[in-house]
Amino acid sequence: MTYMVKKLSLPKFYFMFTATDFIPNPYTSTIENGNFEWSAPSNIALVKYWGKKANQIPANPSVSFTLNNCKTITKLAFSKKDTSALTNDFSFDLLFEGKPKEDFKPKIQKFLERVEVYLPFLKDYHFTIDTQNTFPHSSGIASSASGMAALAMNFMSLERKLNPEMTDDYFYQKASFLARLGSGSACRSVKGNVVVWGNQANIEGSTDLFGVEFPYTIHENFKNYQDTILLVDKGEKQVSSTVGHDLMHNHPYAERRFAQAHENLDKLIAIFENGNLDEFIKIVESEALTLHAMMMTSMPYYILMKPNTLQIINAIWKFRNETQIPVCFTLDAGANVHVLYPENVSEEVLQFIQGELVVFCQNGQYICDKIGSGAIAL
Ligand code: PMV
Repeated sequence: MTYMVKKLSLPKFYFMFTATDFIPNPYTSTIENGNFEWSAPSNIALVKYWGKKANQIPANPSVSFTLNNCKTITKLAFSKKDTSALTNDFSFDLLFEGKPKEDFKPKIQKFLERVEVYLPFLKDYHFTIDTQNTFPHSSGIASSASGMAALAMNFMSLERKLNPEMTDDYFYQKASFLARLGSGSACRSVKGNVVVWGNQANIEGSTDLFGVEFPYTIHENFKNYQDTILLVDKGEKQVSSTVGHDLMHNHPYAERRFAQAHENLDKLIAIFENGNLDEFIKIVESEALTLHAMMMTSMPYYILMKPNTLQIINAIWKFRNETQIPVCFTLDAGANVHVLYPENVSEEVLQFIQGELVVFCQNGQYICDKIGSGAIAL
């Protein structure tokens, strides 16, 4: 007689984080002054985060490729205030490309207020935050993800001086947690190459509180995956992401959309493992169009794509049909198009971009980027 032996898979237990885990114990060290410098990259979502709950908790999980070339470099200089100067205010100067930039200050002020409970030293120091981007200013590429991630890394470097026993895991998890409080998608800019943010039952360790590296096998096809960003419209967006997220409250399709994001993320787990690019393309392009469909069906409704966005999408579909080259597009909350393709077809796709897509870019501008490994201490 034969018996079927069913293998018992025992559930693994993961530590469930809560926000209070990031409130530090009293510090064991002191530091008077110094400086740190970090670069943090931008990221491009494959499954989109669109809609949030209180405290920057996402309404659905998302997954992104961390980029390599589009990044923010931020230097943080700090000096301890003398006790007579201790007030109940934050004290910081903000420089952009070496020059004072007053209009960036309110965003930083708001960030400091949000994270103060997790970084209780913030009012003890005067800070100079000196920041620059590797991509052109007002290119329509959001710098909030890379910017908030770079700033969070610097604050964590300072906290590590005050608590030298800090583990690397805590350092990166808390950096991502803080970046999230600055700008949701920024939490996916701390690590590489594929980052998940938001609770997903089938992804061990995933959490709404910070981004985690995708923990399973990733097929060779995705190694050095390319992202060429076509700059269709470099102007200021008519509707900010903050307003867009907010319009997902009471949106007629919100619940179905949130469920779809979970389904798509589950499908991507298998696709990352088997490297099926046709299936990858279906999910990525559907996610991009769904994001924009949410904008078009909110109340008030709006459109961020431009005529040239559609021209590019149609040209990519035609090229893919004719050549069978697995190139696809995704969009973030704007008119620019991210053209995604595997490294082994780079030459053909770049030729296609230069020959047929550049005409749709503002001033013929585009940026060549690819998947990257996350924030770096400089
Ligand atoms: O991080 P926010 O609030 O700027 O929102 C970003 C939203 C999208 O870029 C459209 C999607 C995403 O997941 O990055």
